[in-house]
Amino acid sequence: MTRLFLKRMTALALCLLLLVFASSCAEDETGQQLETIKIGVATYRSDDTFVASLCEDLENLVKEKENETGKKIILNVVDGKNSQSNQNDQVDTFIAQSYNVICVNPVDRTVAAVIVDKAKRANIPVIFFNREPVEEDIRMWDKVYYVGTDAKESGILEGQLIIDALKADPGIDRNGDGKLQYVMLEGEQAHQDSLIRTEYSVKTITAANIQMEKLANDTASWQRSLGAAKMRSWIDLYGGGIEVVLSNNDDMALGAIDALKEADMLEGGPIVVGIDGTKAALQSILDGELYGSVVNDARKQAQAMLDIGCVLAAGENPQERLRVVNGQYVRVSHRVVTKENAQEELDELLSPTE
Ligand code: BGC
Ligand code: CA
Repeated sequence: MTRLFLKRMTALALCLLLLVFASSCAEDETGQQLETIKIGVATYRSDDTFVASLCEDLENLVKEKENETGKKIILNVVDGKNSQSNQNDQVDTFIAQSYNVICVNPVDRTVAAVIVDKAKRANIPVIFFNREPVEEDIRMWDKVYYVGTDAKESGILEGQLIIDALKADPGIDRNGDGKLQYVMLEGEQAHQDSLIRTEYSVKTITAANIQMEKLANDTASWQRSLGAAKMRSWIDLYGGGIEVVLSNNDDMALGAIDALKEADMLEGGPIVVGIDGTKAALQSILDGELYGSVVNDARKQAQAMLDIGCVLAAGENPQERLRVVNGQYVRVSHRVVTKENAQEELDELLSPTE
């Protein structure tokens, strides 16, 4: 074997290696993409109903994308168990294992800069979702994206549900004093959706010239069992005086319904509304328990994350490749659901991703 031959073989081998591993746009002679895309997903906690359904959608969409593109996509979803230090370690592991994209549902959305810093140093794009970092942190690097919704819109639509319900049935003002006595179940205090949904649901109702009287408000951290516990204590205090239950999400609204049922106060009791349009919430609407909800479209958010992730992994610019991306933010719109369209929404939710 001549030295030249050896040199050529080495060069060829190197080229092949590069083709397979380095360039994510590498193609073989049939034009097929060769690489595997590794996507790491770090959730704030995996037992959150909304986040769990988003991750489930993501898994299904990944399978579909694999079939469509013939590409292998490794999706690794990890649970931060509500600890930012756990989550930082998980992100470190994704980086050490050379993931192509990291999706983060931050435990503490105020410290996203730490994650952006690490990812930028390793040149691994980051997609934050559902828990929105401050804009300054998103702007630290052009390979950082946020996928979520417009919290204000969800609050406005929740308020609209009450306006429409009162129009259809003035008896919701049960004591006929011209005001709606309400309680407010709030999500985590530091979550953008809690503050904004609370504010805009009430503002929307009062802007329609309906007087609101707050009996109580408190956080139940998005959770059904905590929502039920809060509602039990409010039932003890205000009994039949509660006319409206506004909840920042469906799980807590369903908790309130659990408590109303226990107290035998659901029938003829307060009107309860939530946000998310989860499967359990849609079923509850169909059962005539929850009055309505606002769909926080998990599947569309998962789709946006996957699309952006794949484009970034291929070293391309999502802003040029994807219509939905305008700047570094994607906000999926909401829609209301009541018994009129709950079955349709449920069918859609249960249908395979198309
Ligand atoms: C959802 C909640 C969820 C929270 C988690 C919100 O957007 O409406 O149901 O618990 O995000 O971050
Ligand atoms: Ca009243």
